[in-house]
Amino acid sequence: MTLIGPSLMCADMGVLKETVIRLDQAGVDFFHLDVMDGNFVPNFTMGPDLIKSIRPYTNKPFDVHLMVKNPENHLDTFIEAGANMISVHAEATEHLQRTLQTIRNKGLKAGVALNPSTPIEELKYVIDTVDYITVMTVNPGFAGQKFIPLMYQKVKDLKQLFDKEGYKIDIQVDGNIGYETIPGVIENGANMLVCGTSSLFKSDISFEEAVSQLKKFIKNQKSAQLEINLK
Ligand code: DX5
Ligand code: ZN
Repeated sequence: MTLIGPSLMCADMGVLKETVIRLDQAGVDFFHLDVMDGNFVPNFTMGPDLIKSIRPYTNKPFDVHLMVKNPENHLDTFIEAGANMISVHAEATEHLQRTLQTIRNKGLKAGVALNPSTPIEELKYVIDTVDYITVMTVNPGFAGQKFIPLMYQKVKDLKQLFDKEGYKIDIQVDGNIGYETIPGVIENGANMLVCGTSSLFKSDISFEEAVSQLKKFIKNQKSAQLEINLK
């Protein structure tokens, strides 16, 4: 099943609570919360207090994407804020295995996020300690950027690696995931879509309409791919 996760950094912070309620009711599967420290990436976004303030308004999983240096120092802060899943950047810590193990020991799903240039070999010795991979399909830090075409191949390589090694690990794609890029990332193996300004936060349609159009589009893509595979 392909899951849809709104990227709340793209939301209007002035009406965030209402946005979460409407997106939940519109049928999204999880919420993607980008946390940035102005150090690992040249931007700042939401912190634990904002995450805590919207926690009561949905039961859907909070997927916290830590674009911060030394994420191991901040795990408890975001767990207390209500995270259900935390992804940390392989490039941001010397202790990736210990950090993932800690996230899992605290009962959350553990994810590794990879910048576009980072090879998937980085996962070789943590593949048994990870629940999902966040493939950055743009350079992390800002919404509204262009998809990096080589990331289609990266998704495909990840899927082949997991299938070969027999691991069931979710592949999440994050950045410019819209109607032009969804067919390719789904075909290559991605099953968690982080949806921001490219597909969900658009001024010309309601959240309800945007989510329903996305779901329909994804369903059609998958049946079209099934037909091709059956030929
Ligand atoms: C990048 C951000 C964005 C955002 C999605 O660090 O993570 O990718 O979630 O926004 P769009 O759809 O505008 O790329
Ligand atoms: Zn993200």
